[in-house]
Amino acid sequence: MDQSPDELEIAARGLDVSEALQLPGVVDIIRAKDVPGKKVRTFCGYHEELLAESEVSCIGQMICAVVADTKAHAKRGAAAVKISYEDLPDPIFTIEEAIEKSSYFKPQRMLERGDVTEAFKNVDRVYEGEIRIGGQEHFYMETQSMLVVPVGEETEFNVYVSTQWPTLIQDAVAETLNIPSNRVTCHVKRIGGAFGGKVTKTSILASISSLAAWKTNRAVRCVLERGEDMLITGGRHPTLGKYKVGFMNDGRIIAADFQFFANGGNAADESPLVAEKMVLHMDTAYNIPNLRGHGAACRTNLPSNTAFRGFGVPQGLLIVENMINDVAMVLGSPADKIREINMYKGPSTTHYKFAFDPENLLRCWDECKLRSDFSARHAAIKQFNQENRWKKRGISIIPIKYGIAFSESFLNQAAALVHIYKDGSVLVSHGGTEMGQGIHTKMQQVASRELHIPASKIYISETSTGTVPNTCPSAASFGTDANGMAVKNACEILYQRLEPIRKKNPKGTWESWARAAFMEKISLSATGYYRGPDLCVDWEKMEGQPYSYYTYGVSCSEVELDCLTGDYRTLRTDIVVDIGKSVNPSVDVGQIEGAFMQGLGLYTMEELNFSPFGLLYTRGPSQYKIPAVCDVPLQFNVYLLPDSDNPHAIYSSKGIGEPVLFLGSSVFFAIKDAVAAARSDSGLKGPFTLKSPATPERACLACASPFTKKVPASKPGSFKPWALDV
Ligand code: MTE
Repeated sequence: MDQSPDELEIAARGLDVSEALQLPGVVDIIRAKDVPGKKVRTFCGYHEELLAESEVSCIGQMICAVVADTKAHAKRGAAAVKISYEDLPDPIFTIEEAIEKSSYFKPQRMLERGDVTEAFKNVDRVYEGEIRIGGQEHFYMETQSMLVVPVGEETEFNVYVSTQWPTLIQDAVAETLNIPSNRVTCHVKRIGGAFGGKVTKTSILASISSLAAWKTNRAVRCVLERGEDMLITGGRHPTLGKYKVGFMNDGRIIAADFQFFANGGNAADESPLVAEKMVLHMDTAYNIPNLRGHGAACRTNLPSNTAFRGFGVPQGLLIVENMINDVAMVLGSPADKIREINMYKGPSTTHYKFAFDPENLLRCWDECKLRSDFSARHAAIKQFNQENRWKKRGISIIPIKYGIAFSESFLNQAAALVHIYKDGSVLVSHGGTEMGQGIHTKMQQVASRELHIPASKIYISETSTGTVPNTCPSAASFGTDANGMAVKNACEILYQRLEPIRKKNPKGTWESWARAAFMEKISLSATGYYRGPDLCVDWEKMEGQPYSYYTYGVSCSEVELDCLTGDYRTLRTDIVVDIGKSVNPSVDVGQIEGAFMQGLGLYTMEELNFSPFGLLYTRGPSQYKIPAVCDVPLQFNVYLLPDSDNPHAIYSSKGIGEPVLFLGSSVFFAIKDAVAAARSDSGLKGPFTLKSPATPERACLACASPFTKKVPASKPGSFKPWALDV
């Protein structure tokens, strides 16, 4: 739909496509009533309509699709579709409105360790706070894109699509068209970035595109423009975190009670799971003996939000670390000391009663402090701040313990198909999709190692449901772990089959063995399979094992803040990450740097703005600022923790795609530290609110200088009375 969202009001009343159908080049207009099969996609037990039929519940919901011979004709056709609306009686846009009206998706989740209520009675101090984190647009380079081609004599389709989960697209197309899955083949060459945004939302767009291809019996391409993509497909959940913390004067946190509210939008998508992951990660690096957390996904009239690298952890942990910062500010102690005092030490148990050893987390912490020269720089910053009134420096050091694999156990599996051709060249297919995280490179390395041949003899053409069926999404940082084991398994089988040939001719070449095996009627093709860990949580008993293992990391960042403008620069960042024995350190360092920068964007610059009527204003790079080269820390050091093993993943490596995004928050807390120094010059001490992203406007206002105090505060901490805090 290309109708200007300004013209849309909530709730469709009528749809008139007659004029649009008369326009040159317009072939057809696809509506919900055209669907021969399922009209909805079901996620987390909730139905999401492919095309709105009776009610539109957000600005950006799709109502119909215009099929035309050119993009220009399609746009003109979409503009000519007439839709009349009447307002929904009581729309909900913000988290606060959702809380007030108890508008939630089920299930909500709660975990408790110890007895929080009782523990609050025996602490020196109690503090209550909250922090709001804005959402984030995926801003993948390639927007949602697909081409559906009808082929064959029977109803059969080839779908070329940019997705993280080819099997979901296959299922969605088959269910929409009411045909068996064996008539739909989904192909993914590579994805121009996905970051979690090309799982569920892509399946809805692919269903609509396949409907168009089926109805017109023509190949149909759908590529969203950037503005449409930003409006329609949702992103990271804006989140409100509230907490109450009880602690002793020596810095020990005895009790903490969290409430996480994620703005899910108008359809559930994976939102309940996102809220759940916040609760599962809320202990992070800290052994708080009495810990309670409640996570809820709010149903609102915004476009539905979805998975985004980190899946709720970047929001949940910002809330937890903000709580730690508040404790430090109440006590007037350095935040790193409070973190250290409360960290897991020695063999430990999480709040879901899972035993683990935090040794490598502590090693990352010590190594990061050492490598960043933390103590000396902390002292130098103090000195700098004493000598400067309008420029302040701040430093922070932040840990993460990130669970790898899917807590929905059935997703922890993978398969691969490996062919050796007679000329010795090898074709590897696996269930993972390449989106820039380097999975194909790593799979090539696995095959090379197992078959004892150079990587140059191995090729990965594409991911296809025709070669590897029933795949799981490349998500949860588990793609390499799972598919690596499946490729290994297939290669081991093949290598063993070639053993008699090698024994007969030990001096032969790989090529000669491949040809000889064919001549001796030995199959040169094998499937590999990996049955991953059985993970689950018993929410009644509040115990379980939701993750296979943890990836640990620590980041230290220093910023310089101009208190008069709020402009800041990250002077230096040092990151130490435990990723076991990396399969490919170059790829992994790239992942660490990329994830950190995406986190830096989330916490300090990327700001989605909504009108008071729930219309997304920020629909392109001119309105929405993502980090650029100039935002990379001036000094940026990444270290991989040495001497680390991991028995749970391929070649002792660890998943690294997502965890480091949260460490971008070290820049947020460094800004907060600099702001605290500025406030102290204005005679202000103790905790204060700084919303994420800590944009220059917010940082400048938080400094509370004599100048910013002159700004009329229509909304505390905001320059934007025209935008909603969703
Ligand atoms: N890196 C790039 N360049 N582009 C992406 O879209 N997605 C991230 C991460 N790194 C992404 C990326 C996300 S959301 C995940 S879950 C992991 O890659 C997947 O990596 P894996 O296949 O190794 O698990």
